Amino acid sequence: MSKKVFITRNIPDIAVKMLEAKGCEVTVYAKDQVASPRELRKILERGGYDAVLSLLTDRINSSVFDAAPTVRIYSNYATGFDNIDLAEAKKRGIVVANAPSDKASEAVAEHTIAMMLALSTRIVEANDFVRAGKYEGWAPMNFVGTDFHGKTLGLVGTGRIGERVAFFASALGIKIAYTDVVRNERLERQCGASYRASIEELLPVSDFVSLHVPLLDSTRHLIDEARLALMKPTAFLINTARGPVVDEKALENALRKGVIRAAAIDVFEFEPKVSRGLRKLRNVILTPHIASASIEARSQMAEIAAQNIIDFLEGREPAYVVNK
Ligand code: GLV
Repeated sequence: MSKKVFITRNIPDIAVKMLEAKGCEVTVYAKDQVASPRELRKILERGGYDAVLSLLTDRINSSVFDAAPTVRIYSNYATGFDNIDLAEAKKRGIVVANAPSDKASEAVAEHTIAMMLALSTRIVEANDFVRAGKYEGWAPMNFVGTDFHGKTLGLVGTGRIGERVAFFASALGIKIAYTDVVRNERLERQCGASYRASIEELLPVSDFVSLHVPLLDSTRHLIDEARLALMKPTAFLINTARGPVVDEKALENALRKGVIRAAAIDVFEFEPKVSRGLRKLRNVILTPHIASASIEARSQMAEIAAQNIIDFLEGREPAYVVNK
């Protein structure tokens, strides 16, 4: 009998093609929106699915597991997996896998560099100024920014993504400092990166601070009021990781009071809600969780997420299980 797979939202075609080529019966959620927890439970309750290809916007917890007793694997279409209760899944013998695509790491690293450049050159503010019809002629101090050369990028986390950011940034003349739970000797060798044993040591020496850690209990509000105060008043903060890694209210206050110069954030503490306070500030660039949104990355993520399911259904261990 063919295996039944539910995909919680339309993703690049390749996933459905791969699963169907293996004889799976694939159902994709009919609406191009996030299914409410209630609707998702209802669909899974009725479906008798063997596997679910979930998205980072789906909350997968015990109430979903209760509703879907036949589902033995959740393959998350994301690098992150903080939307899934891993411990509860493990207790029930349910496999959870993620899709840490190389191309997504590349895309997020490129987005991070784009944000750093946008901050230092003030492109977004300048664009708004011209569009508002305010440009009246060249002026020596119009939108004066700052350059990259000789500046220090402080990376918090140097896994797949942080490491790519370091390689790109060092090619642009930026010095790399980093902190992580383990030392990254390759980065030290290849980029001359200097290790700091704690975030408290990293923040005061960094002109740019970029976050590349997963959301865990230990990283929630990693950047809070006290740590923002350790940053240089001229520094920029970039967050393409997860919103709750930053205390968003503290960031808003720091930006308003000039504790740091500016920030660029792709992820929000209460996503998809973006606070009015942040939206009103001019020294913050806001993008809607699109750092990995290159077509190459999104297609490779679909392939990896589908392959996890195929491997599992064919009796092999998927390459990217996150709750062993
Ligand atoms: C995106 O945020 C991801 O985790 O892939």
